[in-house]
Amino acid sequence: MLEPVASEIESLLHEERMFPPPPDFARHAHIRSMDEYRALAQEAETDYEGYWARQADRELHWHRKWDTVLEWEEPFAKWFSGGQLNASYQCLDRHLASWRRNKAALIWEGEPGDQRTLTYQQLYCEVSRFASVLQNLGVKLGDRVIIYLPMVPEAAIAMLACARIGAPHSVIFGGFSSEALKDRINDAQAKVIVTADGGWRRGKVIPLKANVDGALENTPSVEHVVVLNRCNNDVTMKPGRDHWWHELGEFACLDVPAVPVDSEHPLFILYTSGTTGKPKGVVHTTAGYMLGTTLTSKWVFDLKDEDVYWCTADIGWVTGHSYVVYGPLSAGATVFMYEGAPMTPQPDRFWQLIDKYKISILYTAPTAIRAFIQAGEQWALRHKLDSLRLLGTVGEPINPEAWMWYHHIIGKGRCPIVDTWWQTETGSIMITPLPGATPTKPGTATLPFPGIMVDVVDKAGQSVPVNTGGYLVVKRPWPSMMRTIYKDPERFKQTYWSEIPGMYFAGDGARRDSEGYFWIMGRVDDVINVAGHRLGTMEVESALVSHPLVAEAAVVGRPDPIKGTGVAAFVTLQQGTSPTEALKQELMAHVVKEIGAIARPDDIRFTDALPKTRSGKIMRRLLRDVAAGREAAGDTTALEDSAVLSRLRTAED
Ligand code: WT7
Repeated sequence: MLEPVASEIESLLHEERMFPPPPDFARHAHIRSMDEYRALAQEAETDYEGYWARQADRELHWHRKWDTVLEWEEPFAKWFSGGQLNASYQCLDRHLASWRRNKAALIWEGEPGDQRTLTYQQLYCEVSRFASVLQNLGVKLGDRVIIYLPMVPEAAIAMLACARIGAPHSVIFGGFSSEALKDRINDAQAKVIVTADGGWRRGKVIPLKANVDGALENTPSVEHVVVLNRCNNDVTMKPGRDHWWHELGEFACLDVPAVPVDSEHPLFILYTSGTTGKPKGVVHTTAGYMLGTTLTSKWVFDLKDEDVYWCTADIGWVTGHSYVVYGPLSAGATVFMYEGAPMTPQPDRFWQLIDKYKISILYTAPTAIRAFIQAGEQWALRHKLDSLRLLGTVGEPINPEAWMWYHHIIGKGRCPIVDTWWQTETGSIMITPLPGATPTKPGTATLPFPGIMVDVVDKAGQSVPVNTGGYLVVKRPWPSMMRTIYKDPERFKQTYWSEIPGMYFAGDGARRDSEGYFWIMGRVDDVINVAGHRLGTMEVESALVSHPLVAEAAVVGRPDPIKGTGVAAFVTLQQGTSPTEALKQELMAHVVKEIGAIARPDDIRFTDALPKTRSGKIMRRLLRDVAAGREAAGDTTALEDSAVLSRLRTAED
């Protein structure tokens, strides 16, 4: 299954540039040296539970202290059993007792340029008010609430309000279609949907409420829809079901106490793609997740009270959950949030925002960096960017050229870069530099976070030698790990804990270099990483074959200079259907309708047959070569019909 890309290893093996932390940065950092890093890692090695217990004691506010640090019945973990806490209390109430009460918690700018700032006290009031709104709509402990909002403060408010009353939220990215929304609502059996009339993106309004209306034709669990007026967009309101956020707020109470919940109470469900057509509801619980996100926010982003911190991820992805909302607010940071697109109105919007708000920490994705590189460095050079002190990336491997550009053009050679490896499933950052300690090298996420036991192994679970490709695994349960797939513990076990005995297998290939640094080589399963967003190739295939004229479809990734990976589809049509350009466009639109714009194929090729083995398995390896315009490497003798390949190639022109 694992197919290391030899040429890539070869080129990265020659990466010898090394960037030690600037001494002045290290002096003031949370973790100041490699000695300190090694001491922490060693502490976790010798006393794993004790290490995590000490962190939990220091970082979290406990309404009731736990009885047991870890209960482990592979693959099911319980951290801090018997303890009680509340994530919203942890992010808000705690700070109200100190001077932080009047500190900016959220600073926000909308795409059209409108601005808002909420202090911790103000954010607390809004969260309390919305918690009361949800209670008035009948939301109780354990009820699921869907959040389908643009990047506005209300997205964070709605999440924290759910957490406040112990109602797990499931945030659905605003780019998903009605169909995708409907599936997720039904899987979660959600009672309430929180949405907006629309949100601004590239100068246009995304019609969120209209998408919800489309989804709700077939979602019996939904009782109420709360609609935020963001854009003064025309919407249809169904009496009794749909309510305006501001109208409900008038009758709400401003002091809803945070309900202490059990450590293992589910905080949220977040859907993510896997190797089958059906998205998985990744379940995260309260204590361990809050510990992982709080501690990594402090140590990886080195958050200080003076910082203005900006993570550019949308709230619809795990990065938005962990590093826009829960981690940084728990750490008492000032979080900057931006609603719109990076290139609107011009390719320097990010740099303009950084100067305007004096942003000191920027956490973004390699795909964004590559798009900025393509737009030209003059856009960044127009701005001072002198408030920045730390840069971060996440979502996919960053190519060394993009790393160097980020370092020079944005960081002015002054700011450490933290390349952070983690996943929806891991909840918080797992492999990363600590910016005051770890010397960085372009292209590697460097070393495990203290207390995270990762390794690169072979199929049998044996560590592989230095500079050899293998499977990236986690060897011990960690606090912020996902607990299960919603309503499907068996699939959880199958997907993550059965491939390699006794270990969590992440789906990525990796190698370690002679200094122990991890180089992530990308997915080894049928999942592709498009512009930092995860997409199961099976999902796109299911969407394609749901079109009446499609007989069969195979979807693979192909290299894309900006998105990292693009979506390439091979389609066979029903007998008697002619392959036309119009049909190609129609199929692309069909995928957008079924999943959302992120899944739109970059290329659809019609073919009379797909390359298959004699047992009928599609040979994706060959399709990947064709899609990338490469000569098919390796063995093709397993092909049932060897002429298929050459026909596929000629279909290119
Ligand atoms: C997959 C997880 C968790 C944040 C956003 C993506 C890839 C993530 C890195 C990195 C190389 C990375 C992996 C991983 N990935 N960060 N720093 N270097 N690859 O979350 O959608 O759960 O995807 O993103 O392939 O498995 P996700």
